[in-house]
Amino acid sequence: MTRTVYVNGEYLPETEATVSIFDRGFLMADGVYEVTSVLDGKLIDFEGHAVRLERSLNELDMPAACSKDELLEIHRELVARNEIVEGLVYLQITRGSDGDRDFVFPDPETTKPTIVLFTQNKPGLADNPAAKKGAKIISIEDIRWGRRDIKTVQLLYPSMGKMMAKKAGADDAWLIEDGYVTEGTSNNAYYVKNGKIVTRPLSNDILHGITRKAVLRMAAEAQMVVEERLFTIDEAKEADEAFTTSASAFVMPVVEIDGVALGDGTPGPIAKSLREIYLEESLKAAI
Ligand code: PDD
Repeated sequence: MTRTVYVNGEYLPETEATVSIFDRGFLMADGVYEVTSVLDGKLIDFEGHAVRLERSLNELDMPAACSKDELLEIHRELVARNEIVEGLVYLQITRGSDGDRDFVFPDPETTKPTIVLFTQNKPGLADNPAAKKGAKIISIEDIRWGRRDIKTVQLLYPSMGKMMAKKAGADDAWLIEDGYVTEGTSNNAYYVKNGKIVTRPLSNDILHGITRKAVLRMAAEAQMVVEERLFTIDEAKEADEAFTTSASAFVMPVVEIDGVALGDGTPGPIAKSLREIYLEESLKAAI
């Protein structure tokens, strides 16, 4: 089946969808994105992603390409047209193209944003075998820019981090700045020691994960203790267990950090339990 994608107001076969070579997303990484998961053919936490998108656009003085209601409609239409039961909807908005290359932002009155959405079909996303095994991670230096709270499409270093992990025989990398863990290449990072969940507090240093927010709320509701503070990779290596959260992998147990096995080297009980709670609660609230 040829995938149907959305570009600037039109639903098109992916082979016919085009964007200008002068698009600022392409030339300058001048764009923001969101990834929303789909389970049972429904959107998980659409509201959270829509609100964060609006914030990212505002922080970059970028006009909204369409309203929240229109966005929801497009998400649903793409899920339906592509018959997605489990998968992801990727959305990207860039500052558009003024037909040339210039560092100065174009006038938003005359240069309209580019909006692109497409689906990724991922059967088995909820029942992911990788979550049963748990992830092995390495730690690397965080050399990204200082506004990681804005979900921009500048993903070269996170991609390099994933490649460094792959080369080291691991699954992913956690990023370290000034001796403290910021987050994973494409997820938020947590460790658990003596029943207490530790994660870095929100700031411009990390992405304000939509899954993070939901998982922390669910952890509190389940009477789990959460401490939001800076932590080092050495603390995490001595943890009983660890995990990451993201819209694409939900709660992913971490079983090894820099070659050191956590606990008995299998997914820990808190990570497993939070994954189950998250999937169950999110499905109930999905739209
Ligand atoms: N990544 N931190 C970073 C750097 C991320 O790129 C992501 C998401 C997260 C988790 O945010 P959320 O829970 O809202 O997905 C944290 C997406 C999934 C991606 O780039 O594919």
